[in-house]
Amino acid sequence: MCGIIGYIGDKKASDFLIEGLKRLEYRGYDSCGIATANEDKLSLRRVSGRVGLLEEAIEKKPVKGIVGIAHTRWATHGIPSEDNAHPHTDCKGEIVLVHNGIIENYTELKEKLLASGHKFKSETDTEVVIHLIEDKIKSFKAEMKNGEYETVFFKAFKKAIADIEGSFALAVLWSKCPDMLLSARLHSPLVIGLGKKENFVASDVSAFLKFTKKVVFLEDGEIALVRKNSVEYFNFAGKEIKKKSTDIKWDSSMAEKGGYKHFMLKEIHEQAESVENTIRGRLLPLEKDILKKEIGLSFKDIKSLDHVQIVACGTAYHAGLVAKYIFENFEIPTYVDFASEFSDRSKIIDKNTFLIAISQSGETADTLCAVREAKESGAKVLAITNTVGSSLTREADYVLYTHCGPEIGVASTKAFLGQLSAIYVLAIHIAVILKKISLKEAGKYVKELIKIPRFIEKLLSREDEMKRIADKYSTYEHFLFISRYVNFPIALEGALKIKEIAYVHAEGYAAGEMKHGPIAIIEKNMPVICIATNSKVIKLLAGNIEEAMARGAKIIAIVDEESKKHIKASEIIEVPKTLDMLSPLLNTIPLQIFAYYIALNKKCDIDKPRNLAKSVTVR
Ligand code: M6R
Repeated sequence: MCGIIGYIGDKKASDFLIEGLKRLEYRGYDSCGIATANEDKLSLRRVSGRVGLLEEAIEKKPVKGIVGIAHTRWATHGIPSEDNAHPHTDCKGEIVLVHNGIIENYTELKEKLLASGHKFKSETDTEVVIHLIEDKIKSFKAEMKNGEYETVFFKAFKKAIADIEGSFALAVLWSKCPDMLLSARLHSPLVIGLGKKENFVASDVSAFLKFTKKVVFLEDGEIALVRKNSVEYFNFAGKEIKKKSTDIKWDSSMAEKGGYKHFMLKEIHEQAESVENTIRGRLLPLEKDILKKEIGLSFKDIKSLDHVQIVACGTAYHAGLVAKYIFENFEIPTYVDFASEFSDRSKIIDKNTFLIAISQSGETADTLCAVREAKESGAKVLAITNTVGSSLTREADYVLYTHCGPEIGVASTKAFLGQLSAIYVLAIHIAVILKKISLKEAGKYVKELIKIPRFIEKLLSREDEMKRIADKYSTYEHFLFISRYVNFPIALEGALKIKEIAYVHAEGYAAGEMKHGPIAIIEKNMPVICIATNSKVIKLLAGNIEEAMARGAKIIAIVDEESKKHIKASEIIEVPKTLDMLSPLLNTIPLQIFAYYIALNKKCDIDKPRNLAKSVTVR
């Protein structure tokens, strides 16, 4: 995930900015850069690669100034490269900007700016913002003549952000007014650090924690005008607002994790954002061919598809299994394989096969191998991945990114929800194009999908309730996870999470299969976690629960307000009610939290479980 640091004070800005960038390295990045202003002149250094390389570049060619901004970039639009690295400049090289987030309407904005003569130097969505500010500045001709640069800068910035759709945390510097930094936030975090004769702007407090612990968190829709000795706050309409500062008690390792004990827990809490960022700008209006515009997948390509074949590993495979239920709900034949098994078995793949490879890292050897084999047989390949520039993106014909930011915990959490979100986007579009569902019906899914991030936040606010249940069961040695229908893969995912981080034996099973064998393992007090939210199968599931209870199992049930009347259980976790098809996005969360607290009680190395690697690059 990209990182921002800005400094304005009375000391050498580059020292603070480089230190800040080092503190942001943990977020993951592929390129970085710095810009400072000194006596009306900007200095800019950018590199593709690590902060160490940037330091070397600055040693060779120092940057002067007591004000500056810097950035670590994790590619989303455009490959990792020096040109795509931030800060970005306007045409004249006088204004510089760093950005976190996604500018959704950047294509429209870019077309207009190109038409009015702006020259672009990168492939990023970010660059439109700096040209937009430059454009707005030009519209204040009279004030510019009078040298009212600071007023113009503020007004132009305010006007520019009003034109942007999407999510952003911005920090901007104009060489004509080096006594101020402007920053703004919408759906992407930004925090101000208050020092003595110096102030900071950053994407998270860890960037400046060494220098000050006094901070002000910006909220969505707020602007900060930062000077050496003061900070003023405004809403997007330009009205001044008062904000209170807070003293941060975290040490730097806690700060990196946003105050959470582990990256995994932090990432669990970032899931509303993962879903929101992955669906944003991709769903409405449905009749617009968004997939063609964004990923090059045309009506023609989609119409020629005969069936979908999914390949993936681990958690990504579970996302693939959910995808089967979704695609087939829209009458699109879908097959799912572990990537490794796909390679091992004989299969019928041809030019009418639409192969979807799902991989957080985009580097999983088994998945890449399956993709290569499918391509040799003529299949068209679409990658769903979180990693720009990964091997998978280079091999696939189309790439649909999940916008989750880097996942650092080895156990996949937010990437899984991102994968599911991308699958919903894709399936809804394909179903509309193939006329498997009407626009009205698609609209029903879209309307509900848009509500999911708020439901996730609501659910996560009840973490303590789930922790209490996990604490109670943390000494048990065997767990069974059961469900039916679209939540059967979520039972598998729940079992996988607990196995990998808590090293406890767990099985995931289709509830209907229990009486065909596995029920034999149930004995008194065995915990059986049952995902019981789907109205379509709730009565059958209630029967499966009764069968387990009759053999002494302790049932931990995940229900919603409608299904709960059918379910008897020792422990109940109620999740918000949503459409059956979308319920995996919510039901996964209690299982992640359950696994996390069991692992915590067992004092396991949660972010780096034994024997596991984040990315499995060998077959
Ligand atoms: O990077 P990928 O999504 O291709 O990784 C696939 C699996 O290795 C991964 O999901 C693994 O199962 C996770 N550790 C599960 O939490």
